[in-house]
Amino acid sequence: MSLPVERPHVEPDFKTTLDLGAVLPCTAEVKDGHLFIGGVDMVTLAHDMQTALYVMDEAHIRKQLRDYLEWTRFHWKNVDVIYAGKAFMSIAMCKIVDEEGCCLDVSSGGELAFARAAGFPTDRIFAHGNNKTVQELKEALDAGVGRIVVDSFEELERISTLAIERDMVQSVLIRVTPGVVADTHCYIQTGAEDSKFGFGLRDGLAMRAIERALELPGIDFAGLHMHIGSQIFALNSFAKAIEVIVHFMDDIRKETGAAVRELDTGGGLGIAYGAPDQPSSIKEYGKVVVDDIKAHCEDHGLPVPRIMVEPGRSIVANAGVTLYTVGTVKSIPGIRTYVAVDGGMTDNIRTALYDARYEPTIANKADQARSKVVTIAGKHCESGDIIVYDTPLQPAEVGDIVCVFATGAYCQSMSSNYNKQVRPGVVMVKDGVARLIVRRETYDDLLKCEIF
Ligand code: LLP
Repeated sequence: MSLPVERPHVEPDFKTTLDLGAVLPCTAEVKDGHLFIGGVDMVTLAHDMQTALYVMDEAHIRKQLRDYLEWTRFHWKNVDVIYAGKAFMSIAMCKIVDEEGCCLDVSSGGELAFARAAGFPTDRIFAHGNNKTVQELKEALDAGVGRIVVDSFEELERISTLAIERDMVQSVLIRVTPGVVADTHCYIQTGAEDSKFGFGLRDGLAMRAIERALELPGIDFAGLHMHIGSQIFALNSFAKAIEVIVHFMDDIRKETGAAVRELDTGGGLGIAYGAPDQPSSIKEYGKVVVDDIKAHCEDHGLPVPRIMVEPGRSIVANAGVTLYTVGTVKSIPGIRTYVAVDGGMTDNIRTALYDARYEPTIANKADQARSKVVTIAGKHCESGDIIVYDTPLQPAEVGDIVCVFATGAYCQSMSSNYNKQVRPGVVMVKDGVARLIVRRETYDDLLKCEIF
């Protein structure tokens, strides 16, 4: 694959790091030309810890979790915030989520194992997945997870059988697809009717699933779940889906007499990847979600359920950056300059997968203007191994520390060992202290599953 040809022409923007606005972690500062996050000098950190390196701003993560709690509970007291662990999961992250009083969404047995290893209270865990294996279901029941979010008829039967075997009753949410097409990349839309997730409303399958949940022993029908997609800027996509689902709550009452005690509206709030991006705030999002649910419930004469929101990206994306060291600079006259760094699609697949766009800076030239335009390339054996196409950047030299912003979500969690690359470590920074929370892999880690 060669470079996609139809890329817009980019000019230097002469921005310095602090002009990059909403993409920055909340503690970003520049001192003596160096970028600091959480009071820690990113240049020193890169030299001490080896690059590529993920860095997470703990204050930013906690602020996002608190904002979600504050701006949803401001409108209705009975709201819980469920952090979607797939965005970024580590033991330290699970502990922060627990300390902030939030719940946790796990989407596999592996994520459940992480939550348990972190000592996360299992009654606050929501188990997800469109095709949980029987083994994963057993693990979820045995762990005593608070809710299983059910995606299929087969799964309902399996949970019932497993619960009866264990002489227990499992509370479930039924995942429905409200038929709303969110305004986002087609790969991360999930609420449309044509989706592998959940039960459709229009085709009547969601109602049938609820009827089945109500009649099956070992199952407690607690409520509904939906998730219309990810990186959504337009709050009216959420509003539309909420209108549809509350209407469906009324249908459920009329057809079955059952109450929807809980309504989980999923995640999806977009974040700033580019300096001009202006996503909705958590405050605006909280108001739309909670007020709309309350208003529609009132219209239908329904009691307001316990409400849950399930954010992932908007908690961790802007908290995270990736640090790299420049290894080579290759200028092709009249074409472009490639600045190659010591990472790439193994630590950030999002550019290759979604044509995602990032804002970089040079951490040791953080007060200088981005006066050049370059392409930041990875070190892997693919032409598509690009981290940022045609981006303004300070003049880059070998040894510079490149910092790419907004990589806290879906980068480490989607990382790979392609080319037998070791995965970077993760450092949590706070109040001038850098705490290693995930160590960098070693070649021995790569070899540990091999049978000699
Ligand atoms: N709840 C459920 C059931 C989900 O499937 C997801 C994300 C979330 C919550 C959290 O959504 P968020 O607030 O993070 O948008 N790899 C893609 C994103 C995939 C999202 C998968 N589900 C990316 O890098 O953009």
